Amino acid sequence: MPHRDYSHLSAPELIDLLKQRDAQAHFGLIWERDQIEKDKRLNDDFVGLELVPELCHGEGPYKNLVIEGDNFDALRHLLMTHAGRVNVIYIDPPYNTGSTASNRQGWVYNDKFFDPNSRFRHSTWLEFMYPRLQLAYDLLADDGVFMVSIDDTELYNLKLLLDRVFGPKNFIGNVIWNNVTDNNPTRIAVEHEYVLVYAKKKSANSPVWKSSEFGAKTMLIEIGRQLTEKHQDPAELQAAYTEWYRENKAFLGPLADYKFIDDKGVYAGSRSVHNPGKEGYRYDVPHPVTKRPCKQPLMGYRFPWETMKAFIDGDELLYGEDENKIVELKVYARDYLSKLSSVIELDGRKGPNELKSIFGGVLPFNNPKPTELLTQLLTFVSKPGDIVLDFFAGSGTTAHAVAKLNAEDGGDRTFIAVSSTESRLDGSEEEKQKNICRDVCAQRLRRVLPAATRGTFAYLRAKPILRHRLERELTNQVVWNAVCLAHQLPIAKLEGALGWQITSEGIAVAYPSGTKSSDVARFAEKAREHKGPVICYAWASPRFAEAVPRSQVFSLPETLLGNFRKSTVLLNAAVSEEEVQVGGEE
Ligand SMILES: C[S@@+](CC[C@H](N)C(=O)[O-])C[C@H]1O[C@@H](n2cnc3c(N)ncnc32)[C@H](O)[C@@H]1O
Repeated sequence: MPHRDYSHLSAPELIDLLKQRDAQAHFGLIWERDQIEKDKRLNDDFVGLELVPELCHGEGPYKNLVIEGDNFDALRHLLMTHAGRVNVIYIDPPYNTGSTASNRQGWVYNDKFFDPNSRFRHSTWLEFMYPRLQLAYDLLADDGVFMVSIDDTELYNLKLLLDRVFGPKNFIGNVIWNNVTDNNPTRIAVEHEYVLVYAKKKSANSPVWKSSEFGAKTMLIEIGRQLTEKHQDPAELQAAYTEWYRENKAFLGPLADYKFIDDKGVYAGSRSVHNPGKEGYRYDVPHPVTKRPCKQPLMGYRFPWETMKAFIDGDELLYGEDENKIVELKVYARDYLSKLSSVIELDGRKGPNELKSIFGGVLPFNNPKPTELLTQLLTFVSKPGDIVLDFFAGSGTTAHAVAKLNAEDGGDRTFIAVSSTESRLDGSEEEKQKNICRDVCAQRLRRVLPAATRGTFAYLRAKPILRHRLERELTNQVVWNAVCLAHQLPIAKLEGALGWQITSEGIAVAYPSGTKSSDVARFAEKAREHKGPVICYAWASPRFAEAVPRSQVFSLPETLLGNFRKSTVLLNAAVSEEEVQVGGEE
């Protein structure tokens, strides 16, 4: 808390003040805010998004955005264009583990890579996260959902910080991702990390989350029906299904383990017959072919013999080729339960393996999340048409997952991926040239996105511009990008001197970049041809307003600056507040 001047207060006044303070116990997170230099980025600049045509993917106009730069800059711009419009935010911030091995765990605070040995390690991380989370909150739609990956290092601090930003009532849950097996000698083998989940406003969000994996489930039920009709011989049936499965596995998401089939349909094996933890039932289950007893689970079986006998008689067990495999219970695709469990079991190595295969055997980025983790999560919280934002996008896993979901259910979700360069200006030549956003995130998306229209993206670079340099440095394309995004229009290349797009409500949005009479005339002609309302952003606004009196004309650069300031003023107020205030409403 900043130091205040109390010297003018009398002793009784000071006593009163102390009494008041004692009566106001605060619950929540306190960190050493006044010991940490304020983030320099909370200043009076403007952030523009520059279009980099040679790095865009496919033909415009573009709905998907890859934004290169510091996410604080990108988010401040997005607050001007997307406030209250983002449906899902997932982030995977640096976990603050203190690793100095490379930049990969690094994060930049006040233009410098953070020193993990700093005494204020946790406070600085919180100070780094706080304004970004505040921006995330403001960007979310009322029924929007926020998810963040984290491990034990900052879980407990982050939970309290999120309670402060979102309000504890909007906490939805903590998903434990069991991602690794650790057999190293230690006290507790940590084999998981977390995904904290919040709603912007719980009451506006659906009380039951259902997976949109219905597509994959329906597909498995249907293929099962077709093949069982065609093949009576079990071996032939399995061979036909295996062929189909190999070709379609990539589209099955969490149902990717359903690799078996019998006359009742497609199924997977479940270990639910194995007793967990302590000693269970012991008996022999004969292998149907070798007739020898199958290997028993470590802790025996979970059910008494009568139940197991019913499973055997009902052909409900999955056996290995011989008795050396422990039996499993068949679980059919038709019974797949679409709930988001608080425990997800998914091998963390899948992330690096898939990225490596996209990059021809070379891993260009450490510790990417598996796309499957994101598809699993997103399938519960996003629907076609949603905007999904990841502002610690790294190698672009979230955007990849969004594209996969769209391919599966034909949805038109759009993604915004903000990724940094990770370059170090104080480093070697190679470190200076490093650009994760360009060379990994965008490159990955280019390789995996379908060439279809929805698989395109605009590559944008977040560029802070000092206010006094604005008129000189603000390019026409940057203005047009901001105008398009603010009106929910895709990013379009500015061809000629008049930017012109029509919104889905039939409103024409115009940006005449020049101020000459010919610019006014061109705008007036275009506006005459358009029957619906016209909104125009112009440098010499009165002339344009006079030319087309029915149009709504906003003057530049004041409008742009005003909107940017409006959003960042809110932010400045929020992050410099002194008292702990629990945000969010239920
Ligand atoms: C844990 S990684 C995210 C990995 C990502 N989920 C994936 O699957 O590829 C965190 C990323 O955030 C980046 N990062 C750190 N500080 C940032 C900032 N201020 N703005 C944008 N990105 C940042 C790091 O460089 C790193 O690439």
